[in-house]
Amino acid sequence: MKTPGILRCILVTMAVAAFCGPAAAHGDVTPQAVDTKTLPPVGEKWLDQNPYRGDPAAIKIGSSAYGQNCARCHGLEAISGGIAPDLRLLDRDCMPQKDEKKKAACFVENDQYFLTSVRHGKVRNGAVYMPPFEGIFNQEAMWAIKTYLESVRDVPLAKK
Ligand code: HEC
Repeated sequence: MKTPGILRCILVTMAVAAFCGPAAAHGDVTPQAVDTKTLPPVGEKWLDQNPYRGDPAAIKIGSSAYGQNCARCHGLEAISGGIAPDLRLLDRDCMPQKDEKKKAACFVENDQYFLTSVRHGKVRNGAVYMPPFEGIFNQEAMWAIKTYLESVRDVPLAKK
């Protein structure tokens, strides 16, 4: 049987509520402010790439910020339970790239996609799949989360 579009939307919304709701037990539902004062400030302008790659302090702050703000949908320790994308896979297209220049460009592209997703959330046809985080925490916190996700991605960056 064909499901009418509107019904599909309602079903999806219910599924998100059902899965994200109980999963909230993993962390606070209210978005949490993130203390980033031990990280080098990045200024007012939105950067187009992660300034903290590999920085252990950023990984630590990012891990905690992720746990408090993202884990309820994206899964504890970034391991998705299936309701939202697995964020360990974000840079998967870049990892096999042999050409260092192309690889760097690939990371920048993914960084921009990540930042846009986090700033504005994911809203389609009026349905909020993911809330926007701009105004809830600063750019430093967003990049710290990206740095944390890079540290747990499925294919770790080759050690130099
Ligand atoms: C209420 C649940 C929810 C919360 C909380 C949430 N997300 Fe999401 N996120 C989603 C869903 C659902 C999608 C997929 C949306 C879509 O299909 O358009 C998504 C998509 C994304 C994407 C794009 C992934 C891709 O592969 O396209 C990124 C990046 C992301 N989220 C990062 C985060 C970060 C970082 C946090 C915490 C600061 C967070 N999200 C909090 C539900 C959530």
